[in-house]
Amino acid sequence: MLENISDRPKIQPYDKQLLVCTGTRCAPESSEPLFKSLGEKLKAHGLAEGAARVKRTRCSCFAVCKKGPIVCVQPDGVWYCDVTAEVMDRIIVEHLKGGRPVEEHVFHRGPGAPGATTPAPSRAPDYAGLLKALCENGERILITKPEGVISEIRGRIECREKGDWINLETADCSCHIHLMRQEIASVEFIQRTKTDGHITRLVELRAADRRLLLRVYFPAAPASNAAEFDRLKEIHDKA
Ligand code: FES
Repeated sequence: MLENISDRPKIQPYDKQLLVCTGTRCAPESSEPLFKSLGEKLKAHGLAEGAARVKRTRCSCFAVCKKGPIVCVQPDGVWYCDVTAEVMDRIIVEHLKGGRPVEEHVFHRGPGAPGATTPAPSRAPDYAGLLKALCENGERILITKPEGVISEIRGRIECREKGDWINLETADCSCHIHLMRQEIASVEFIQRTKTDGHITRLVELRAADRRLLLRVYFPAAPASNAAEFDRLKEIHDKA
């Protein structure tokens, strides 16, 4: 217990924080030099001290782990991928100094960030509850993994929340799906009527860059699962 306020650590005031992943799964050969170059670059642009100071911080993993180097500007909540030395120069000039994110390299915006596709939620949506309902009702679950592989699962799925993660597991442990809660940017309910009059219903979870995270597919049949589909949509709309 700290008795005296003077015992506490101090941080110089800063305007923004630049977080750079230098983890081993990201782009270790380029991310570390990128981070080290920041000291001189920020100094050259007048961002090393004073009211406009940008605090740079090295991180070991953001659980993104591809398309690195990964960089995040806080408190703006703007996430960048593929950040080369040239892209970092643009981030410094256009975003940190000019206030305009370098859109070609933005892959995610935190809730409430300027330009975010979704406003900051008043509370976190109950994705785990929705997924549980989906898994109980879907006869087949098709999953698109980041590398593009589609796997098919049948049967009952357990859904558990663990910190920032939502874990889906089959009862026989033959499949584990892990979704990062913050990565889920939208849930879409889609109905398609085929030429033979059968209706296909899909529920898709997507990331901010529109990447498919998980798809639950309700097989086509006349009026199949309409009540369940409506109930799931209601669960989502209330979340
Ligand atoms: S190692 Fe960089 S995000 Fe995981």
